[in-house]
Amino acid sequence: MRHFLRDDDLSPAEQSEVLALAAAMKAKPFDHQPFAGPQTVAMIFDKPTLRTQASFAAGIAELGGHPLLVEGKLAGIGNRESVADVARVLGRQASAIVWRTYEQSRIDEMAAYAGVPVVNALTDEFHPCQLLADLLTIQEHKGALAGLKVAFLGDAACNMGNSWALAGAIAAMEVRFGCPDGFAPAYGSSTVTDDPIAAVDGADVVVTDTWVSMGKEEEAEARRATFAPYSVTSELMAHAKPDAIVLHCLPAYRGSEIAADVLDGPQSVVWDEAENRRHAQKAILAWLEARRHE
Ligand code: NVA
Repeated sequence: MRHFLRDDDLSPAEQSEVLALAAAMKAKPFDHQPFAGPQTVAMIFDKPTLRTQASFAAGIAELGGHPLLVEGKLAGIGNRESVADVARVLGRQASAIVWRTYEQSRIDEMAAYAGVPVVNALTDEFHPCQLLADLLTIQEHKGALAGLKVAFLGDAACNMGNSWALAGAIAAMEVRFGCPDGFAPAYGSSTVTDDPIAAVDGADVVVTDTWVSMGKEEEAEARRATFAPYSVTSELMAHAKPDAIVLHCLPAYRGSEIAADVLDGPQSVVWDEAENRRHAQKAILAWLEARRHE
């Protein structure tokens, strides 16, 4: 049995296989129904969500399954009962568990005890489902991924930075992080510069994320000052390739990490990216279900 807890849980060949499956599912949304029955897939959110809950619920339904929303606060995971006990209980009701939570160690523990595949729907450390959607989107707009130059601007010391460092390398892309000192990804071995122009120079793809990740709200004011030079503006975009595309996992703060005219402009593919969450997550759920009894 396999889990999807971090981006490097998939080898390069497996990542390509899942992306190809996602593209096939996007073309024919109701042709793949591994959860027909319906089998239940549990979703738990310990942090805010819009895209993740909507895209998993819609995607699980398209896969023939039943999405069960478990209220993280009501269940009191880790307080009212241990992660291991919650895992053992939900593993007896559901065919897979999707969890958005804080420390990566919590989801590692869930996977150790659940007895069913566990999918990371964002932790403090990684956001691997978002990366599958991002790679699918880039593939659609640019063709092959290998060799593309990606610039990630802003707070790279968060889940999105870490996931880009791992998933970008697995896809054989050249990922350059433009971020202040002390905000480089903690995983992988990517190129890091504190010069935003050098990061974006000649890029095929420009990526950014909020400067204030969920849980960092108290640091908001200081972060806005620290990251100000890394805002993705049209002036900065002029240093990327003319046909560069712009990605943002959303929610976006126009005027902070990205200018409104860039987010809402012709180079932005963020709405495709948001839609592709569903197709990418359907693919990883189906891929894991096929390996559940191995
Ligand atoms: N880094 C952001 C991603 C939001 C999808 C956060 O953790 O809030």
